[in-house]
Amino acid sequence: MLFLSTFVFPLLLSVAATTTNTSATKTTSSVAASTTTNTTAAKTTSSVAASTTTTTTTTTAKPNPKRGLAYAATNATDILKANSTASVASWVYTWSLNPPDNIVESGLEFIPMQWGAADIENLAVTMKGLGAKTLLAFNEPDFDQQSNINASYAAQLWMQYIEPLKADGIRLGAPAISSSGRDWLTDFMNECSQCTIDFIPFHWYGDGVGGFTDYLYQLHGQFNKTLWVTEWAETSTNDTVVLDFLNSTVAMLDSLDWVERYAWFGYFRPNDGSHYNLLDVNGNLNAAGQVYIDAATKVVNALPNPTGSGTGDLAPAPNTAGGGYTTVSPASDVGPTPAFATQTPSGGRRVAGDVAWGSLLFAVAMAFIW
Ligand SMILES: *[C@@H]1O[C@H](CO)[C@@H](O)[C@H](O)[C@H]1NC(C)=O
Ligand SMILES: *[C@@H]1O[C@H](CO)[C@@H](O)[C@H](O)[C@H]1NC(C)=O
Ligand SMILES: *[C@@H]1O[C@H](CO)[C@@H](O)[C@H](O)[C@H]1NC(C)=O
Ligand SMILES: *[C@@H]1O[C@H](CO)[C@@H](O)[C@H](O)[C@H]1NC(C)=O
Ligand SMILES: *[C@@H]1O[C@H](CO)[C@@H](O)[C@H](O)[C@H]1NC(C)=O
Ligand SMILES: *[C@@H]1O[C@H](CO)[C@@H](O)[C@H](O)[C@H]1NC(C)=O
Ligand SMILES: *[C@@H]1O[C@H](CO)[C@@H](O)[C@H](O)[C@H]1NC(C)=O
Repeated sequence: MLFLSTFVFPLLLSVAATTTNTSATKTTSSVAASTTTNTTAAKTTSSVAASTTTTTTTTTAKPNPKRGLAYAATNATDILKANSTASVASWVYTWSLNPPDNIVESGLEFIPMQWGAADIENLAVTMKGLGAKTLLAFNEPDFDQQSNINASYAAQLWMQYIEPLKADGIRLGAPAISSSGRDWLTDFMNECSQCTIDFIPFHWYGDGVGGFTDYLYQLHGQFNKTLWVTEWAETSTNDTVVLDFLNSTVAMLDSLDWVERYAWFGYFRPNDGSHYNLLDVNGNLNAAGQVYIDAATKVVNALPNPTGSGTGDLAPAPNTAGGGYTTVSPASDVGPTPAFATQTPSGGRRVAGDVAWGSLLFAVAMAFIW
């Protein structure tokens, strides 16, 4: 709708007598939106002036059922780039149970997450209120700076509060492990053998397609479950490397029938050290955003990600109570924060730059909020 109105408006101004026939059509192709204008100038036999008939057909991109947003934007208008007619995104999560208004209004499917143990006794009531069909569980329980829940306690909480949701037909995602959480998940699956795990979400940060592919196949091979990738990113500070990684891993995930959904990290504007954001400093899609959100095969007019001191909107501060989320999460959800790049798949080594970046963000976000 956004693109349509800006496109038709100049036509109305420049043509004397104009008939505009507008229809939004769902297509079965996977290409990004295109706008076709069919203008026929017809001579008439009467004495009235020539009239121009303009037929504008906006082709709405077909949503990709797998492709979602790890939504960490802090400016409420930023959602508009992901729910435009050109976007192929179909779902969104915010690491919390309750969606902010802009996401409710966006038409994208919101998937709630029970981030940690806090307030889990209210989960059933909240899920009923939301009418949600799917639940994501604990965020990076294997990581002491995220939900940090041991496997046996997670299994106990699961049986008490999460498993009963099966009776309402809700699909249940396992706790979302970090890049180095495979041992945790192994323990959890053993402890939770009575649990219904409909799919396994996981996160990965690192450098190179090989490491990501290894982890993806290891998890599939070991657990033989449908996978969701609920955060992943290339941590190179070279925009081209990040873009190529995004482009090729998305194609791979689209091709695997045991990968049900994925959400690139992340949907937010740039900040220090960040090269995996999908929005530019003005909230427009950068190169990665055009490829991910609009399924563009060719990038146009994309701003590079700045590397200097932070400008523009803040991405959420990692590992902070409410950091970055005060504008998009209700008070009851304070606590959930997205995990930033933290670990490599092999050794649990921190990606130093991202930790430093996170600390800086934390400081800036705190100054911003208070
Ligand atoms: C263009 O619009 C005219 C007038 O509505 C119609 O007769 C013609 O078939 C259209 N052409 C195409 C290619 O859609
Ligand atoms: C996109 O989201 C905004 C606000 O969240 C909403 O007002 C608008 O109608 C949505 N657009 C579409 C095409 O769904
Ligand atoms: C797991 O966490 C629970 C709750 O915090 C704690 O009571 C328990 O001792 C922990 N178990 C292990 C093995 O650390
Ligand atoms: C993996 O799961 C599928 C379907 O859930 C099942 O048919 C298959 O036998 C399983 N494979 C192994 C090796 O367990
Ligand atoms: C970024 O990566 C591209 C592709 O590998 C390479 O051609 C380019 O030289 C790199 N840029 C820098 C500044 O390293
Ligand atoms: C949100 O982003 C838009 C577009 O960049 C900008 O005009 C607006 O001022 C921003 N709002 C806030 C509250 O920063
Ligand atoms: C993404 O990869 C495809 C080939 O798989 C290529 O055709 C396309 O140009 C790439 N897109 C970008 C923006 O590099």
